[in-house]
Amino acid sequence: MPPIILAIESSCDETSAAIVKNGKVLNNIIATQFEHQNYGGVIPELASRTHQRNIVPVVSKALDSCKINIKQIDAIAFTQGPGLLGSLLVGISFAKGLSLALGKPLIEINHLQAHILAHFIDDPKPEFPFLCLIVSGGHTQIVKVDNYFEMDIIGETLDDAVGEAFDKAAKLLGFAYPGGPLIDKYAKTGDPFKFKFPKTSVRDFDLSFSGIKTAFLYFLKREIVNDPNFIENNLHDICASIQYTLIQMLFDRLIAISHKTKVHNIAIAGGVAANSYLRGQLVIIAKKESWNIYIPKLEYCTDNAAMVAMAAHFKYLENKFSNLKATAFPRLKYWTV
Ligand code: KG4
Ligand code: ZN
Repeated sequence: MPPIILAIESSCDETSAAIVKNGKVLNNIIATQFEHQNYGGVIPELASRTHQRNIVPVVSKALDSCKINIKQIDAIAFTQGPGLLGSLLVGISFAKGLSLALGKPLIEINHLQAHILAHFIDDPKPEFPFLCLIVSGGHTQIVKVDNYFEMDIIGETLDDAVGEAFDKAAKLLGFAYPGGPLIDKYAKTGDPFKFKFPKTSVRDFDLSFSGIKTAFLYFLKREIVNDPNFIENNLHDICASIQYTLIQMLFDRLIAISHKTKVHNIAIAGGVAANSYLRGQLVIIAKKESWNIYIPKLEYCTDNAAMVAMAAHFKYLENKFSNLKATAFPRLKYWTV
């Protein structure tokens, strides 16, 4: 019988459930938490509580929407990390309860691997090896992917994630959290070369975004002294310029790593992969560098359970099951499963 797997994602502020049947993702139910908007970031305790409220309706909706009875499920997959401890525990405990009740096995999934394996939900699927730029609110990494389970981090941020830099810059401009998409929106009609920000350089293939965040703060303070309405008067150009600098830093590293590894299959993943400038630039650079590029659908860029389901399918085929002792790993990093 083709395996049917229920997958749960609860690592940050999205409660999500999806069903995968014989490798085909049937749905992807996501409840986004808007409770954090006024706090400038995700409040961990609030996130856990909201997951508690959302998880039953989200899972029920996933089962109902594809008319699958819970008894037909062959395995239950959950995100084990990285992520917020309290948020992860909600998904894991729910999965364990279900596993006990149904007598079906558990599959634990690394959230970052899931972001990468989201590329196998739809066609065209990347060929191995490929490089995946994972850019989200919590992570910024360039990973060499040799197969479904073997992945090596070649470069990563030493401090803030690029999504965090977007959100912090957005907060300074007065946007609600997460402000990354608003920077993208206003930047569309701005001049990316109007204002210059220093790109922090660090060793080898790594990245750093904390310096640019501080530089942006002092830039705004300086300009506001001369013009109290500086932000309002220059919003589009400011957004375009900071966005240009952040995305350019990513591409500098991605190009260098592609040259070094001689890998020309390039994929992007994570919430910032939804950024329209990044997506557009990727197409342009790909032509110059002779890259084959893989850009996921927007709903598979931000956190979602479809990607967890896809990763779980591959683990199911290899009999890579977890057990009832499974727990959360907020700082989970390793790649070989
Ligand atoms: O992967 P994700 O949903 O959650 C995790 O952080 O794991 O990524 C969320 C991040 C936020 O920082 C958000 O501002 C950023 O992705 N983001 C964007 C855009 N859409 C989402 N940043 C820039 N431009 C966008 N269009
Ligand atoms: Zn994520």
